[in-house]
Formats: sequence, C-alpha cells, structure tokens
Amino acid sequence: KRERGVVIAVDGPSGAGKSTISRALSKRLGYLEIDTGAMYRAMAWLAREAGLDCDDQQAVKSFSDRAEVELQLHNGSTRVLANGQDVTSEIRTPEISMLTSKISALAPVREAMMTLQRKMGAKGGVVLDGRDIGTVVFPDAEIKFFLSASAEERGRRRFLELQAKGVQTSLQETIDNVAKRDQQDSERELAPLRQAEDAIPIDSTGLTIEEVIALMEQVYRERTAGK
Ligand code: DC
Repeated sequence: KRERGVVIAVDGPSGAGKSTISRALSKRLGYLEIDTGAMYRAMAWLAREAGLDCDDQQAVKSFSDRAEVELQLHNGSTRVLANGQDVTSEIRTPEISMLTSKISALAPVREAMMTLQRKMGAKGGVVLDGRDIGTVVFPDAEIKFFLSASAEERGRRRFLELQAKGVQTSLQETIDNVAKRDQQDSERELAPLRQAEDAIPIDSTGLTIEEVIALMEQVYRERTAGK
C-alpha cells in the first residue's frame, strides 16, 4: 500500500505535452512530478561529456554504474543535476534530444534509471511521465494515461517551444526530428514506447492543456473516490 497517494503514469510520444500536463496535474493534486525523459537526457549529456562509445559494452556498463542523475525541486520548478552539475536548460537542445533517443536504448542505462524511478515513486503521490512507465517501470500503477497527438501538432508544439528558447531550427526539421525519435523509441528492443493495455488513451490534438488536465483530474477523482 502506498503511503502518500497513488502512482500516475503518463506515457506517450515526443511533443504530446506530457511534461507540461504532468507538471500541472501534479501541482493540482499536491503530487511530486518525475520527468523521466529529463533523466535520460541528463544521461545523454553525461555520455557526450565522457565521449562514451555506445558500442563498447564494458564502457557503457561502468558509465551507467557511475553516472549520477538527480531531480531537485526548487520553488515549484525542477532542476536536473548530472554528476552534481545543473544541466536543466542544456539538455533541451535538438542535439541532446537525438542523442537521448540513442542512449536510452542501452540496457545498463535503462536499468540504472528504472531503479532510481522505482525508488522515487515507491511511496506513491507521484506523477511520472515517460515512455515505459505504465508498461515497465510501474506496471501496477493505479492510473495510467497514454497521451498522444497528431505528428504535425506535436512537431508544431516542439517548434514553438524551441523558438521561445531561441534555438535556431525550422518547423519542417522539428517535425522530421519528432517523427524520427518516435520511430526509434517505438522500434527499440528494450521497453519500447507502447500503450499499456489498461492505460486510458487521450488524444490531445485540438484540446487545450486545461481540457486535458480536467479530463485527467476527473479520472483521478473517480478512481480514488472512497479510498
Ligand atoms: O520525453 P522526452 O522527449 O524528454 O524524452 C527524451 C528521450 O528519452 C526520448 O527520445 C525517449 C527517452 N525516454 C525513454 O526512453 N524512456 C522514458 N521513460 C522517458 C524518455
């Protein structure tokens, strides 16, 4: 029995709005939000720093054993630390996105992140967003959502996000990148992106963030009523 509340898994492809929506939902419920994508991004950042050769199994193993990734809550926003260094904004570039998709397919990397995520979520009262939360990390999560949107819509959202951060890129390039990552994330052997059988699918195309959160909150109220 979880002590602080249930586990809510939010999985889905890139740019479906998982992080934004999970953050807002967790605030609403007084839950902790765990952005598991940010953890994999921090691992990719460290791998680049270390010049890791992904084909060297021994090197990948010792890298994964040694790498330290931490999420810190600071006045309502989350800071991402990689070996103690704040990499919160640096891990959001298109280059790191692509590298993360590659690094996250490595078994020792997934093993290390999964162990951390299970530890952080064990007591409950958490919203975890990622690709494999409802299928692999917390298959017994009380509530699972699978959040998607059309590829064009997801590409457009990512493009606006990147533009706001001053990253130079084009709409078409962003849509192509999102599509490529989806394919990599879905076709990999380990913990591929897929919808858990007992997940509630939400297509956010044409919905506002507020509408999606309201839908989720309603499910939460129904599922936890009288508990
Ligand atoms: O959600 P995001 O775009 O920040 O995720 C970055 C990459 O990390 C994504 O391409 C797939 C990978 N990822 C994963 O393999 N498993 C997770 N639970 C979360 C992210």
